[in-house]
Amino acid sequence: MTDRSSDPPCSPGEMEIGGFFELALPDFGEPFPSHFLKFQSARSALRSALENSRFRRVLLPAYICDSVVQAVSDAGLVPEFYRLDNRLAPLVPAAISVDTAMLCVNYFGLCDDVIAQMRDRVSPAQLIVDNTQALFSAPAGAWATIYSPRKFSGLPDGGLLVSENTAIVMPAEQDNASLARMEHLLVRMAATAREGYASFLASGHSLDNTRPLRMSRLTDRLLRSIDMHAMKSQRRSNFERLAAAFDTTNTRRWILGTSSVPMCYPLVIGEDVRGIRKALADDSDIYIAAYWEEARRRIEDGGVEHTMLDKCLALPCDQRYTPAVIDRLIACVRRVLNAGPSRRSSSTISPIATQ
Ligand SMILES: Cc1ncc(COP(=O)(O)O)c(C=O)c1O
Repeated sequence: MTDRSSDPPCSPGEMEIGGFFELALPDFGEPFPSHFLKFQSARSALRSALENSRFRRVLLPAYICDSVVQAVSDAGLVPEFYRLDNRLAPLVPAAISVDTAMLCVNYFGLCDDVIAQMRDRVSPAQLIVDNTQALFSAPAGAWATIYSPRKFSGLPDGGLLVSENTAIVMPAEQDNASLARMEHLLVRMAATAREGYASFLASGHSLDNTRPLRMSRLTDRLLRSIDMHAMKSQRRSNFERLAAAFDTTNTRRWILGTSSVPMCYPLVIGEDVRGIRKALADDSDIYIAAYWEEARRRIEDGGVEHTMLDKCLALPCDQRYTPAVIDRLIACVRRVLNAGPSRRSSSTISPIATQ
């Protein structure tokens, strides 16, 4: 028997020396502190936290994706819905019973101030912060905070949980299906987003099962290859470039907090944006994600939720784009806005611009 007792602890593949090469990717080291628990997805992280809790109900914003609602139900809890005010801040019920948690979303990574205020309005012991759109926002003392790094960079899956709940036991089983969720990432490099879109959807659907699993080894390694510092500064400067171009058109004023890192620049206008999204995709290969069509059945007419659903163009501001690319994006969006509704494509169903 070989004595490896003096080797540092590592996983089986890391013990190997020599042989064929793996993909050459940089290793910037572990990007998250050790109290960030690593799961297959943010929804499985949320389910794990709730399953190990005293809660029986979770208050959710109606304006949210179905995966969160599913995770709450799969944990055996009852989801109930609340509305938002014009700042996208929750309308908090007068009293929240002790068996109930309240989940608040840091929308687009641009609601750090709202989340900070929630800590004064809801007991931190009942507060869950959904930072899936705010990868760089600190957990700051809520009962649980979840993150989803794949919304900020090319990753097959992965979710993070920071929780005050000491009862959480990490699942024994590790996700081993990340390899099968890689196709869209590679097709996008080798070909186009259009050609990878079906794989992107399939990869997302393969996370529908919310059973908590530990993050795969592949995703854990891919996370170490992301230049988080570059991501932060590029996103902030791209956001500011878009803000300089569109703040006068935007019906909402977004304030980029000094340490906030945005997911996108939400351009909210006075008309339905579905035709605009389709025109941008068809004419310019510009793909604008839609958040969240599935929430429509939960939301009431005339609220801010409807405005965000129908009138918001979530313009990309991510680290892939140089100022020149952002300028092209600005020019294309202006051209479509100026063309007016009648000169845009008649069909509003885009084959690709949904998320
Ligand atoms: C607001 C919000 N919370 C949570 C999630 C779940 O994240 P994940 O896909 O990592 O499970 C999503 C994903 O779509 C989301 O949009």
